[in-house]
Amino acid sequence: MNATLAPIAKDEPSHRRVFFALWPDAALRTELLATFGAAAEGAGGRPVPATNLHVTLEFLGAVAEARQGELEALGERIEIPAAELVLDTVDWWPRPALLAAGSRAPAQALIDLQAALRRLLANAGFRVDARAYRPHVTLARKVTRQPPAAPLARVSWPIRELALVESLPGADGSRYAPLASWTR
Ligand code: 2AM
Repeated sequence: MNATLAPIAKDEPSHRRVFFALWPDAALRTELLATFGAAAEGAGGRPVPATNLHVTLEFLGAVAEARQGELEALGERIEIPAAELVLDTVDWWPRPALLAAGSRAPAQALIDLQAALRRLLANAGFRVDARAYRPHVTLARKVTRQPPAAPLARVSWPIRELALVESLPGADGSRYAPLASWTR
């Protein structure tokens, strides 16, 4: 008999840690890196790997695998508006210790999209965030001190692809893997 103990899983194996997000295509990912990469590198924290860059719409945490189909059906119902998110600020958020690219005036269509998604999720019994939605791209984590001011930068993110993404824990931080996606 093999007496080795199985490692203790953080979440039940039948659960996945998931969130809905705007997911960039390769060109947009490259543009994000070119525009905000230096600020992320210079912030004194841990830059988010390029493959992880995204805009969270709603973070759900651990969800039973058996409910993934419900989330996919719900994603299918969301109408993706013809709008864009203009990223034109780089802010330090001291409490979560993040450096994030944000928007001075996020498109109302995105705010409405997120509100509709949150409402559908809440009505279906999923646990949603109670905080007001603030669209952003996290550029670096563990930024514990005010970073140097970043030069003015602007990226226009056309809202084209919505994704249900799994957050997978790894030795050097989480890796994000889309499970399903929908395009306009
Ligand atoms: P953040 O980038 O501002 O930290 C995957 O973890 C994504 O979901 C991240 O973009 C993260 O936002 C977001 N998120 C929102 N609420 C979260 C929570 N309670 N725990 C972890 N991630 C959360």
